[in-house]
Amino acid sequence: MTATIIDGKAVAEHLRTRVAARTATLAQQAIVPGLAVVLVGEDPASQVYVGSKTKQAEAAGIRHFDHRLPVSTNTAQLISLVQELNARRDVHGILVQLPLPASVDSAAVLAAIDPAKDVDGFHAVNAGRLALGQEATVPCTPLGCLILIRQVLPQMAGKRALVIGRSNIVGKPMAQLLLQNDCTVTIAHSRTRDLPGICAESEIVVAAIGRPKAVAGDWLRPGAVVIDVGINRIADGSGKTKLVGDVDYAGALARAGAITPVPGGVGPMTIACLLLNTLNAAIRAHLGAKAELLSPY
Ligand code: GUN
Repeated sequence: MTATIIDGKAVAEHLRTRVAARTATLAQQAIVPGLAVVLVGEDPASQVYVGSKTKQAEAAGIRHFDHRLPVSTNTAQLISLVQELNARRDVHGILVQLPLPASVDSAAVLAAIDPAKDVDGFHAVNAGRLALGQEATVPCTPLGCLILIRQVLPQMAGKRALVIGRSNIVGKPMAQLLLQNDCTVTIAHSRTRDLPGICAESEIVVAAIGRPKAVAGDWLRPGAVVIDVGINRIADGSGKTKLVGDVDYAGALARAGAITPVPGGVGPMTIACLLLNTLNAAIRAHLGAKAELLSPY
């Protein structure tokens, strides 16, 4: 068997086009969604992310406010900026790029964001609503993974799903989304025993470990849907580097039913979902809680 390759780039482009179309409609009511991005320090990966966010927000008709601050910025200064952004009517989404410098209390900064403007879905109010099955802003990466799974598996009910990784940003919300879609969910982590055995039973595998090729192809159940969240840079053997996921792609390709590539799988979905969350935050802010939101699908 050769797996179907799930084209995250194309799916993300389609979502961005839908966001842009709805943004254009809102513009007729003089509503322009606004996203504030706060970047502290000079982390090169974060600078690349923020650059892509700016470009894609502009292309979708979303106004963009960049706040680039020196690495010496402290917790109180960041909270004060967040409070200023909370109060602004032209800012509907606030994203504080992670990781923040170690000297900053990240949890306190994220907690200061108005939950209505928390387009990352990291605030306890949104995480709690998601866990309770209430309407919530869902973190962008797991939402993107769910959209990709639905591409190849419209009926998820009863499927055995494995989430590898228990982070607040990916693993935990991913498990909640799969549960909401009636999957039987297992969350594996660094202390899990017999991961290959659990993989062998799983019809959906979402790998969010952060270690190159941590999941071997021959662990997978034949026909499984494999979503690879990992973005790891490794030496390619010729003095250069390349990006690989958390799953051994070549091995998995021969065994899975469908798989996301790295790059070009989950990565592009994250920003597309951020734009979706920003648009929907603007709709709620201006048109009320009952207004129809743009669906992720
Ligand atoms: N750093 C890496 N990914 C993300 C993300 O999705 N949101 C934020 N805020 N920071 C990140």
